[in-house]
Amino acid sequence: MTKGFSWIGFLGAMLIGTNALAAGYVGDEFCSYCHKDKYDSYIQSGHPYKLVRTGGQPPGNASLWPHTPNPPVPGDMNGGWEDVEYVIGNFFWKARFIQKDGFIHTGPAVQWNLASQTFSAYNTGKVTPYNCGPCHMTGYSPEGHQGGLPGIIGTWEQDGVRCEACHGAAGPHGGGTAAKDCKDCHYRDPQFRMPWKDGFMQHHQQAEDLAHSPHKMMECSACHDPHKSTLYKLGGVKKQCRDCHNERIRGAMGDLGVECVDCHMAKMGKSAVAVNQYKADVSGHIFRIATEPIAAANNVTGGFWNQDANGDSFVTLDYACLSCHNNMTLEQAAKAAKTIHHPPGMVDLTVNGEEEMVVVKSTDIVSVDFSIEAGDKAGLKATWWVICHGPRGWVSWDGKKWKSGLRPWRRNVALADVHDLNVLKRKLAPGYYTYWVGIVPSDGSENFASVPVYVRR
Ligand code: HEC
Ligand code: HEC
Ligand code: HEC
Ligand code: HEC
Ligand code: HEC
Ligand code: HEC
Ligand code: HEC
Ligand code: HEC
Repeated sequence: MTKGFSWIGFLGAMLIGTNALAAGYVGDEFCSYCHKDKYDSYIQSGHPYKLVRTGGQPPGNASLWPHTPNPPVPGDMNGGWEDVEYVIGNFFWKARFIQKDGFIHTGPAVQWNLASQTFSAYNTGKVTPYNCGPCHMTGYSPEGHQGGLPGIIGTWEQDGVRCEACHGAAGPHGGGTAAKDCKDCHYRDPQFRMPWKDGFMQHHQQAEDLAHSPHKMMECSACHDPHKSTLYKLGGVKKQCRDCHNERIRGAMGDLGVECVDCHMAKMGKSAVAVNQYKADVSGHIFRIATEPIAAANNVTGGFWNQDANGDSFVTLDYACLSCHNNMTLEQAAKAAKTIHHPPGMVDLTVNGEEEMVVVKSTDIVSVDFSIEAGDKAGLKATWWVICHGPRGWVSWDGKKWKSGLRPWRRNVALADVHDLNVLKRKLAPGYYTYWVGIVPSDGSENFASVPVYVRR
């Protein structure tokens, strides 16, 4: 916040601003006067660059975009930059060009794709007005034609998504009228059915994805800082998966450099170009993964992505796994997917979420949980032990409570998966304890896990 700045000066400047911009809009540079930190990060993010006016002028050597060079002009715009009034995009995925008459330039090689550095077709043979205003502009009104250009539908106050697109005219200081929410622009289908085309979801449907995900109760800004770039990893993701999903997530290829988002937010949406059959360029916001061998194509009806009875959707394993493992079949992926967070080593025991020595106070609650991944051994008869050695000797769990002495929980019971079964949740008297889970199936193999606990006074 700039020190010594007076509200009288602010109001005075606002009046000047009102002359320049209608309906109380003052422009993002004006906000930057007091909110410099917000402005400095926001100006490195995508929103303000949605629409960039070049006005028939060659842009010169310096790029007009913070992270990408100026795009080349499509070959069939013979006058070069003199034929271009605006560039749409070019921040990350692609650029399209608006002609001097306000229509979007269409044809077989008119859309510049940044990842592949190639031109592709857009609406070849069609006359396409620029009617994209509601999602691309600040202070948009559908009346009239910006700059008097016949191809442009509507007028607006500032090019691109600026401070006042989200905060309304003059922000909270002006009453915040006509403020927009993320969901007003990051959607595609008014009924939120998640449109699907040519093997991929379409782009700008994050709000639809989210509405069918386990995070449906969250605002976008629970994870995103709207003033920082996510695409260029400049702090736009303010909460990581691990900040909320801590102790339960184990295994999962962390040491191989595979990240949570590679599987759970597979790039199943396409804006510009696809990398392969199962990987395009926009991260999905569905998060939950189905472990059945279902292909994405089986999960689409009538051009829309399916939801289950609860209205939830699931990422299929072709996107989640085959996007990297192009030699894997869906069946192989399905088998491996079930053990992703339960790696082999049949018994998985934790005390307060830890697999190694835990030190607590006698006033702390101690929680003991275990999982069993039966794998190939499912169905074999086994003896199951859940036991503890502590200050009073051995105690054993009988399925309901702990009893003194050493005895198995189950004898000759078929081996099956167990997920996060809790066997203790209370305070312990001071001393050393070791919790054990041991499984001895009829093939003679042994599977043990143990965690020592030291309870201080
Ligand atoms: C003259 C300085 C000044 C200008 C110019 C200014 N603000 Fe502020 N803004 C402030 C102050 C001071 C606060 C209160 C900060 C605090 O409480 O920490 C504030 C608070 C805010 C808040 C938070 C409100 C809340 O309820 O928490 C938002 C959002 C905001 N401004 C947006 C804007 C936008 C958008 C613009 C441009 C249209 C703008 N501001 C222009 C000084 C200014
Ligand atoms: C894409 C929408 C969007 C844009 C663009 C945007 N903001 Fe915000 N802003 C938000 C949302 C949503 C919040 C509240 C949630 C949060 O803090 O993450 C917020 C919070 C704020 C706050 C108060 C909270 C804080 O962290 O201090 C200020 C001040 C603010 N914005 C100023 C600005 C200014 C100035 C600009 C332009 C330079 C701007 N915003 C651009 C969406 C936006
Ligand atoms: C419902 C809101 C909405 C409408 C309408 C809309 N867009 Fe977008 N567009 C977005 C959003 C949000 C993004 C970025 C997120 C994404 O693609 O998933 C985007 C991205 C883009 C990009 C890529 C930007 C870049 O930097 O790579 C281009 C180009 C684009 N849109 C062109 C258009 C054109 C041309 C129209 C009109 C014919 C249009 N859009 C209509 C919301 C919209
Ligand atoms: C007025 C429409 C509009 C609103 C409101 C809006 N967006 Fe966007 N958003 C866009 C468009 C259009 C783009 C593409 C910008 C580009 O590529 O040039 C975009 C791009 C993005 C990006 C990628 C750009 C980057 O730098 O990482 C993120 C992340 C994003 N929006 C999140 C949000 C969040 C979170 C909110 C709400 C706080 C929000 N948006 C509100 C239209 C909007
Ligand atoms: C702000 C906290 C928060 C963040 C950040 C977060 N989640 Fe979640 N997540 C939750 C909550 C709350 C639930 C719903 C409760 C539950 O089912 O565990 C949930 C549910 C889920 C589920 C479904 C769980 C189930 O049992 O079916 C998956 C999968 C998931 N999140 C993955 C992720 C991934 C991957 C990330 C990072 C991209 C992430 N989450 C980021 C809070 C968060
Ligand atoms: C290699 C791909 C992959 C990676 C990397 C990955 N996951 Fe998963 N995750 C899965 C699959 C597949 C499932 C579904 C497992 C099932 O249903 O049995 C899953 C399930 C989950 C669940 C739901 C319930 C549960 O606990 O089984 C959560 C929450 C979750 N993952 C979070 C995360 C977080 C957080 C990260 C990063 C630390 C992460 N995942 C990394 C593939 C992955
Ligand atoms: C649970 C956390 C979470 C929530 C909630 C969330 N996002 Fe994201 N979003 C992320 C993460 C993490 C990434 C980065 C993914 C990556 O690195 O591949 C991302 C990426 C994006 C991108 C960049 C596109 C891309 O291809 O990476 C946009 C745009 C976006 N989110 C918009 C939104 C909008 C709009 C909402 C609300 C409707 C939203 N997000 C809600 C976590 C979240
Ligand atoms: C971002 C790319 C990526 C994604 C997505 C991905 N993997 Fe992997 N995976 C790797 C890499 C890299 C390795 C290590 C090199 C190798 O063995 O090919 C690996 C190794 C493996 C292995 C060999 C076991 C090991 O630990 O060496 C299995 C099994 C596997 N992945 C299964 C899966 C499944 C199932 C999914 C989907 C739920 C998945 N992967 C998603 C990149 C990925």
